[in-house]
Formats: sequence, structure tokens, C-alpha cells
Amino acid sequence: MADHASLAGKRVLLVIAGGIAAYKSLELIRRLRERGVTVRAVLTEAGARFVTPLSVQALTEDTVYRDLWSLTDESEMGHIRLSREADLLVVAPATANLLARMAAGMADDLAATVLLATDKPVLVAPAMNVRMWQHAATQANMALLESRGVLRVGPNDGVMACNEFGPGRMAEPMEIVDAIAGIFAQDAHRPLAGRRAIVTSGPTHEPIDPVRYIANRSSGKQGHAIAAALAKLGAAVTLVSGPTRLPDPAGCSVVHIETAREMLAACEAALPADIAVCAAAVADWRVDGVGDRKLKKDGGGPPALALTENPDILATLSRPGDRRPALVVGFAAETGDVLAYATAKRARKGCDWIVANDVSPGTGTFGGGDNTVHLIRADGVESWPTMAKDAVAARLAEAVAEHFIKDFKAK
Ligand code: PMT
Repeated sequence: MADHASLAGKRVLLVIAGGIAAYKSLELIRRLRERGVTVRAVLTEAGARFVTPLSVQALTEDTVYRDLWSLTDESEMGHIRLSREADLLVVAPATANLLARMAAGMADDLAATVLLATDKPVLVAPAMNVRMWQHAATQANMALLESRGVLRVGPNDGVMACNEFGPGRMAEPMEIVDAIAGIFAQDAHRPLAGRRAIVTSGPTHEPIDPVRYIANRSSGKQGHAIAAALAKLGAAVTLVSGPTRLPDPAGCSVVHIETAREMLAACEAALPADIAVCAAAVADWRVDGVGDRKLKKDGGGPPALALTENPDILATLSRPGDRRPALVVGFAAETGDVLAYATAKRARKGCDWIVANDVSPGTGTFGGGDNTVHLIRADGVESWPTMAKDAVAARLAEAVAEHFIKDFKAK
């Protein structure tokens, strides 16, 4: 049996759908409560045909939530709050019908709406007839949900209520308790679990002609280290990287690009995200009118290169709107008056935090292993000692995690 220490004090929102296995959910509530878990229940209309709201209410010692349209529930406990005030949503039994509605993103009853509105991990315990479970539609729905991060326990093999044999029996209550304990135990060390992050890193290469380009000395060490540090704390990270010599960091999905415009497109494709950290040294300008032929030294002197401005990725991601990540962090590479210029840059780009570093010759900030940074937020500046870039990344990732924990507690 798994260690259940991680369960005490946690809050589970249990969705009970309409299946014969719903009776096991009553046992599940008891086992969770014995271990110090607060259980709040949502009972679907079909679920209420298998277990009574009164039994669920008595065992949870809480209101049983049933109706999307109940004025009382909606005013006192809207569906958003219902899912936000839980640490985990558990669907047991998860019927073929509810899995299909979840996969389709439907919001046609309270259970489906809460599952669609949640920003918390979701664990499903499927329970249905063996043929329904094995049907291509159910398998496709389950695979889709799992690809979106939904977790699953069971179903088990066994004799079904309908006397058929095979997979489809809901996992036993203690197996579900073990699965829940496992999720919380992991989360204890992964405060950013369930969060999505975009990190930009490295230089961009802006073509002059088919064989030449404008670049800079960024190695990608700082940005890659930040991507790895956020992934280590549980975030699902998309690293958008310019050309570097570094291996892809473990646990991140990496998009390799060359130009600023490609970097912007990759970042936009990775939205929605909770966090964006722009550590890349993006070329501010590119050559206008690049042709497909190599520029020739034809005796007429050097070519006049006309430059045009690149899109600003940080400013674009910081723009207010539905798709803006909740926390946008920029970098400021300065060669003098670091704090003053970086503070002005934070305001100009519209990001939440800016990490200022001195990139003057001799500092080794571009390409080197260490960095000396100042974290500038709305409420002040923190100056960190010189550290390895990995350590800067770990400290920044911790600050991001603390930000979300505080933000969550404030809600
Ligand atoms: O890669 P390393 O060798 O490890 O070096 C790390 C680093 C010095 C590159 C890194 O710490 C750093 O400072 N990155 C930002 C470099 C930079 O371009 O700074 P900036 O002050 O010019 O730009 C400000 C911010 O706007 C940055 O977050 C930058 O990513 C972003 N930007 C800039 C221009 C643009 N067109 N789009 C952007 O998103």
C-alpha cells in the first residue's frame, strides 16, 4: 500500500456519475475522510439513481452539489469556485458517457462544467461494461483525455454486474486512495504541476542572404537552464530555442527555430500558458528584402543592407487579453545603468517581472557559466549574488512557484 501521509489536509472534489459502481464511491469517501481528506461531492442526475444524495451528504458532511442551475449553489458556490477550491478532481465512477462529454469539452451539466472549468489535476476511475470500455470511441476518448493530462486508475478485470467478464470494473476504493496519495506525493515536490510554461532561449539568426546571417553571442545556457528548472518543479514546458550547441533539456518539449519571426510563431502556437519567460537574445532587426541568391563582391563596394524591425516577442506575450500568460517574465541585457534601463524596459514591454543582467564586455554573461542578476518586480528589486546559471534558474523557478502558491491562496 502507498504511503498516505500526503493526503492529510487535502481537498478532493469527487464527481459521482451514473454507474452501478457508484456504491463504491461511498466507501471511497469514508476511506479518504479517515485519512484527513476533505471531500466535496458533485452527483450527476444518473449518479443519483444509484446512490442517494442523503448518503453522500452524510458521508461528506457537506452539501451535495447537483444542479448547474441551482441559484443557491451558483450564488454561494459557483462552478468555478467549486473546482478551484479543490486540490484534485476525482471522477468515480467515470462512465463512458461522462468520458465522452469530457473529451468533447461539453458543459451540459454541473459535473461536465466543473471538469471543463478546472485548473486542477483530474483523476478518472472508469467503470462500464467491458464492450463499452473496449469500444473504439471510448478508447479514443480516454486516449485524448490522457494526452491532455487526465490521470487514470483502472478499470480492473473481473466479472461485471451484467455477468460479462473483462476490463471495465471500477478500481477498488483503496486502489483509488493509493492513486490519489501518489498524485499528492508527487505534487509535494512539483509545485508547478498543472501549469504550462513557455521559455525562449538562445540567439536568433537573421539571414542576410542564403548563406550569411546576423546573430549574437547568446549560448542558450541561461534560457535552457530556466526551462529545465521549471520542468523540474512540475510545469509542462515548451522551450522555443534559437540555434545553440546545447542538448535539449530533459522533460521539455523543444521547438527549434532560427529567426525572430519563427520564434514568435512558435510561442503563439504554444499558448495558452500560465508562465512565459523570455530569456532569448532576439535580434531587434532583420535584413529587409533577403533574396535567394548569395550577395556578390562585384567591385562596386559593400552592399547597403536595409534593416527592418523584428516583432517583439516579450511585448506581444505581455499584451493584455485572454491569451496573456498570468506571469510574463522578461530579461534585460544592459551595458550600463542596469537597474534604471531594466526598470524602464519592464514598463515599456508590459511584462510582470524583469531579470536584469549586465552584459558589458568582461562580464562573461553572454556565453559564460555564471550570471549576476537583479529581479525587478512591481514591489521592488532583489539583487542576487553571482551564481552559476543553473542556480539562477532554480531560484527564478522557485520564485515563480511561490508566486502561484500565493496567488492561489489569495483566491
Ligand atoms: O544565452 P546565454 O549565453 O546563457 O546568455 C544569457 C543572456 C545574456 C542572453 C540572458 O541572460 C539575457 O539577458 N537575455 C535577454 C537578451 C536580450 O535580448 O535582452 P534585451 O534587453 O535586448 O531584450 C529585453 C527582453 O525582450 C528580453 O526578454 C528579450 O528576450 C525580449 N525581446 C527582445 C527583442 C525582441 N524582438 N523580442 C523579444 O522578446
